[in-house]
Amino acid sequence: MKIKEIKATELDAEEFIKEKVNEIFSIVGDGLAINALSGGVDSSTVTMLGHKALGDRLKTCFIDNGIMRQNEPQQVASLFGQLGVYVEIVDAREKFFNALKGITDPEEKREAITQTFYRNVFGQLVRKSGAKFLLHGTILTDVDETIAGIKRQHNVFEQLGIDPREAFGYTIIEPLVQLRKDGVRKVAEALGLPESVYNRMPFPGPALAARVIGEVTPEKIEIVRQATAITEAELAHTKAFQYMAILHQDRVTGIRDGKRDFGLQIEIRCWDSVDARTARPTRVSYDALDKLADRIVAEVPGVVSVTYNITLKPPSTMEAV
Ligand code: XMP
Repeated sequence: MKIKEIKATELDAEEFIKEKVNEIFSIVGDGLAINALSGGVDSSTVTMLGHKALGDRLKTCFIDNGIMRQNEPQQVASLFGQLGVYVEIVDAREKFFNALKGITDPEEKREAITQTFYRNVFGQLVRKSGAKFLLHGTILTDVDETIAGIKRQHNVFEQLGIDPREAFGYTIIEPLVQLRKDGVRKVAEALGLPESVYNRMPFPGPALAARVIGEVTPEKIEIVRQATAITEAELAHTKAFQYMAILHQDRVTGIRDGKRDFGLQIEIRCWDSVDARTARPTRVSYDALDKLADRIVAEVPGVVSVTYNITLKPPSTMEAV
């Protein structure tokens, strides 16, 4: 089924909110719904729409999959707490790392995360909660890229011909599926979410696992997590669409304390983009890149090389995995 796009320029955010709140209310009726909040603009917007429609009949969980950024679970739960929305943090770190063990292929990694999320962790939560409806922040770009076969986004079962009711026992509601990122930001702002949310950088569903080339382990995630924290701090001034650190699988020779050190490589990507469909590397100043590289090699154990990506999307994608 062709989805009718609502362009950000045509979007009446207030009207959209009214419509979606009514729609969610009429689908769920007096039943229970559940959603997973990651803190990104899409899931945050869905959380607020859902709470407007359903109040406490929407249960919101933050799944701590072990592959999020520094302090992310606590920060997200506390921000929504301030907005009056209770968020339950579910510790599923071990389950995700077990599922990722030994997997190096990008699509298999995504699949392992998808399966762990929906079947194992979230599936169980839904069953326990008794909810029959799942609110999800799928946007049109996710659908397009899944259909085009560019990347298997984790949240578009229906577009892939999978019936979530049959496979997982619940109905998925995707209120944002006609929008792209710029439209979602307008809706988030109109919903009264703070700027730190509606202007928040996108972050992928597979989280830091999308930024570790090769097998994902807790140790590698910790390295990319530290590099990410530094990169986000040092590149914030660029106001770019998205910036990230990627941990490569290959090691390279470096020198540390006058000795040969066969160490780790971090790749930095910083993207200018409007809707994530196409993107070009930001012309970050050399001074900023110098400082970033200095901090990463000084602060992240084992890193001897930092590179900056200069390739357009396409043919690159924004994430590395
Ligand atoms: P790519 O790497 O496909 O990324 O050029 C385009 C935008 O989508 C984000 N992204 C994802 N978001 N689930 C998501 O929810 C995913 O599996 C996923 N993969 C990529 C990415 O961060 C960028 O903003």
